[in-house]
Amino acid sequence: MAVPELRHLIDIKDLSLDEIDTLLALGDDIIARPADYQDAAKRKKLATLFYEPSTRTRLSFEAAMLELGGSVLGFSSQDSSSATKGESVADTIRTVQCYADIIALRHPKEGAPVVAARHAAVPVINAGDGGHNHPTQTLTDLMTIRRELGTLEGLTIGLCGDLKFGRTVHSLIAAMVRYPGTRFVLVSPRELRAPDYVLEEIRRGGCACEESHTMEAVVPVLDVLYMTRVQRERFFNEAVYVRLKDSFILDVPKLAHAKKDMIVMHPLPRVNEMSVRVDENPHARYFVQALYGKYIRMALILKLLGRWGA
Ligand code: NCD
Repeated sequence: MAVPELRHLIDIKDLSLDEIDTLLALGDDIIARPADYQDAAKRKKLATLFYEPSTRTRLSFEAAMLELGGSVLGFSSQDSSSATKGESVADTIRTVQCYADIIALRHPKEGAPVVAARHAAVPVINAGDGGHNHPTQTLTDLMTIRRELGTLEGLTIGLCGDLKFGRTVHSLIAAMVRYPGTRFVLVSPRELRAPDYVLEEIRRGGCACEESHTMEAVVPVLDVLYMTRVQRERFFNEAVYVRLKDSFILDVPKLAHAKKDMIVMHPLPRVNEMSVRVDENPHARYFVQALYGKYIRMALILKLLGRWGA
């Protein structure tokens, strides 16, 4: 029997819509029947190599592996790895694959997970590369939208905040352009518009897209409002960050004319762009979104360990 191909997840486009569907269905099944999965990754090890800070992504990966009966090892900052001594990502990967069956990597440099995958004999998952991509957050987002709204088709999605450096935005757009009837409303300061390659992806996908500089005007047409933080760490100039950071702040009054079923999502962390008062609002879904992140990562780990064959 042929050995199933080694698969990585570097970009959300590495997955076909059918494969995304399979992952979402598996995530739903894990939520429904958790006991059936408690030994599914027994004796397997996940390495989390995080060269950049993280709370949800790293901990949800680790919780996912533990709930599958596996174990975790890794580092949560560049300073506690040999990267500070000058080791390359390639050499780190060649080493870590001797100790782990699957690797989740977060790195400040765009493209680092591609390099890692090239040198890996075990699956590599991109857990965020610089201001580029974040495919597992997108799987989390898709699961949230599908579970909370019942569909991924025909939706109007507003993305608000730092659309330039927000990697979760880039990956979510790359996924949603493939679902029929998606319409985008992009809300950002001019300096933080989505990069041209992302806008081009929307055009190629044939999706309707409108850019706006006010939230109030667009909220009533949205099915999803996806808020993001201004990515301070990606600015070259602190003064520009300070000028732009409070451009858009979501508060409860701005939701007054939202559709009844509209959901507010946020990959988190939140800084100042969303009032804590929104947390109690019936539109808010960002904490359940964080919970779904664990289940979809359980599904992803299982599929990649089985090389999609199991
Ligand atoms: C995001 C990230 O790291 O890109 N967080 C996350 O993974 N949930 C969003 C952010 O940092 O603003």
